Amino acid sequence: VTVSTPLLGGRYGGYLYAYPHKTAYRRLHPARPLSDVWAAEPPGSRFLYIHVPFCEMRCGYCNLFTRPRPPGELVEAWLRALRRQARIAADAIGSSPIGSFAIGGGTPTMLRLDQLEAVFDVASTMGWSAGTPASVEVSPRTATADRLALLADRGIERVSIGVESFDDDDLRALGRPQRTSTVRSALDHIRAAGVPRLNIDLIYGAPGTTVDTWVRSIETALLWAPEELYLYPLYRRPLTALGADTDTRDDDPRPALYAAARSLLYDRGYEQRSMRMFRRSDVTAPTTDYDCQDDGMVGLGCGARSYTRSLHYSTEYAISRSATDEIIDAYVVATDADHAVARHGVELDAGEQRRRFVVKSILRVDGLDQNAYRGRFGTPVTDDFPVLDALIEQRYLHDDGAVLRPTPLGLAWSDAIGPSFVSRRMRDRMTGLALR
Ligand SMILES: C[S@@+](CC[C@H](N)C(=O)[O-])C[C@H]1O[C@@H](n2cnc3c(N)ncnc32)[C@H](O)[C@@H]1O
Ligand code: SF4
Repeated sequence: VTVSTPLLGGRYGGYLYAYPHKTAYRRLHPARPLSDVWAAEPPGSRFLYIHVPFCEMRCGYCNLFTRPRPPGELVEAWLRALRRQARIAADAIGSSPIGSFAIGGGTPTMLRLDQLEAVFDVASTMGWSAGTPASVEVSPRTATADRLALLADRGIERVSIGVESFDDDDLRALGRPQRTSTVRSALDHIRAAGVPRLNIDLIYGAPGTTVDTWVRSIETALLWAPEELYLYPLYRRPLTALGADTDTRDDDPRPALYAAARSLLYDRGYEQRSMRMFRRSDVTAPTTDYDCQDDGMVGLGCGARSYTRSLHYSTEYAISRSATDEIIDAYVVATDADHAVARHGVELDAGEQRRRFVVKSILRVDGLDQNAYRGRFGTPVTDDFPVLDALIEQRYLHDDGAVLRPTPLGLAWSDAIGPSFVSRRMRDRMTGLALR
């Protein structure tokens, strides 16, 4: 397996949160019946993901699949479609247990209370039961006491809130209309509801952010003692209101902001788990019987991805309002027969499955279990990817004989290392897609 020279793309080459990225998906010829797709998948527990493609607003930096301010009847039609899709998907995946569950978006809590209940009912028909780890994304304005009471009542284990910043200038520069008083009451509601795990998302690197303002934002977030923090370096992406980054930024503030955050969080009793993720040291990771390397993901709702070992599928990739509307409009009128097939996606051959295994693990502190890799693919990972030896030698990775883990240097440079593992074929597909 060939891998391009690491670090060529610069420190902020790209955030590889999924491999392959959705921009590598294409129309599948012929469409694949879901029953065949899932029959080919080895047994195991599944991750159920429901994507709610609606928001109260469209933030300046955000390129996620979401429709701001949807009309009420569209949300109702979407819910009916979600129920139809779930019925078909449940048949297709058969009796595999749901090992973990998440509702993401978009902003799931912008649904009315009865609509949010309906989403949980859909999850139950898919085999999810309270007690199985579940996570829900919320925004400050929608994290109201009644929404939180519902989440707690449903046994939700983790709530993740997009705060992004406690600084008004930052929020303006990010194009995120938000009042700090709203954020404070949202965090109070989450704590009062007693959801066991709170994650706060913050973004660093907006024009004008200084180490001082950034440290103050983190310190404010720490007043609620979140179990987790995700610190996202700002990426400026095409078709967002902020627009794509064009220059290479000699004076990029992000490395200094990253370093300041890391040392502050270590002082305050947090451990780093990946470049973006920090966890309070006294919190143990939740036990789930879902394994992100081995188990499939069933995505419901347009925009959600689904994964089996050899096929990843979803609806088309879209950012703009017109393309997003088109996809949601098609979803709400889709028939049972439409829901029964995957029409858009990407196949993963053995080489791509190996790459995915590597990028999903070497940039996390838990690391890559070399025996698990060999057990699955039959070859030592360093034989398949000789570049790993170079990364070890250059101290980006550490090999303790069993597990390959990122060093602090490797964590800092994760967004350079990850993209270097993308295959030529996937890179061509990703860059070849006309974004809309
Ligand atoms: C689904 S949202 C979180 C929940 C909710 N919609 C909200 O905004 O409050 C996903 C998160 O991804 C992060 N994010 C999205 N686009 C980003 C970008 N271009 N650069 C950095 N972080 C980004 C933000 O921290 C955001 O909170
Ligand atoms: S950041 Fe959150 S609220 Fe803003 S547009 Fe994206 S998903 Fe919606």
